[in-house]
Amino acid sequence: MKLTVLDHALLKCDLSVLRNKHTPKELFRASLERIAEVMAVEICAKLPLETFLLDTPLETTTGYRLKEKFLIVPVLRAGLGMQYGFLKFLPNATVSHVGISRDHVTHEPHFYYSNIPENIAEMHGLVLDPMLATGGSATMAVKLLKEKGAKQLSLVSVVAAPEGVKRFSEAHPDVHIYAAVLDRELNANKYILPGLGDAGDRLFGT
Ligand code: PRP
Ligand code: URA
Repeated sequence: MKLTVLDHALLKCDLSVLRNKHTPKELFRASLERIAEVMAVEICAKLPLETFLLDTPLETTTGYRLKEKFLIVPVLRAGLGMQYGFLKFLPNATVSHVGISRDHVTHEPHFYYSNIPENIAEMHGLVLDPMLATGGSATMAVKLLKEKGAKQLSLVSVVAAPEGVKRFSEAHPDVHIYAAVLDRELNANKYILPGLGDAGDRLFGT
């Protein structure tokens, strides 16, 4: 299993804002975007670089740029809340959207939309979904991306449940999971405890 739970004071503070049931949607949005920004910085800290020569106003020196091209894949809807946090630090990334929703009775994922580029094999795909509950949605999103040719993928969740981590890792042992917290368990309706409720509903108010 490749799971990294990012340990950062700012993540703990903003996560507390998301968890609070009294947080209004505008604050929920701002906090989720800030969490995505911190996660982007932490995840990108060790990315491979390539060097090139550049001219300062005074002399020639070594410059650095990221070696990989990035594909950001927010899983609709709640993944949209993380999109701009990642784009802020990977501004020339390509963005693909994958639409998946959980069935309210079976809790199994239902696919409804995707737009995935032809050249996906050349890119490092970062799949964004704040909630990893049963793991069904993230597992399906990654399966779809692999079927379209993806070679390198990472999953970025904010709140992960042990059940979701297990299901996802068994299906995709090659894909690294990053999370801001690993919560306790799922309830009978497959919501994460303590969790933050329905991320999409809280983000969009619908
Ligand atoms: C939520 C969440 C994840 C999924 C996680 O989406 O955003 O995509 O549930 O649950 P899982 O790990 O059990 O699959 P939802 O289906 O509620 O759709 P929405 O984002 O459009 O609200
Ligand atoms: N989806 C959510 O938005 N929240 C949960 O707790 C589980 C799935």
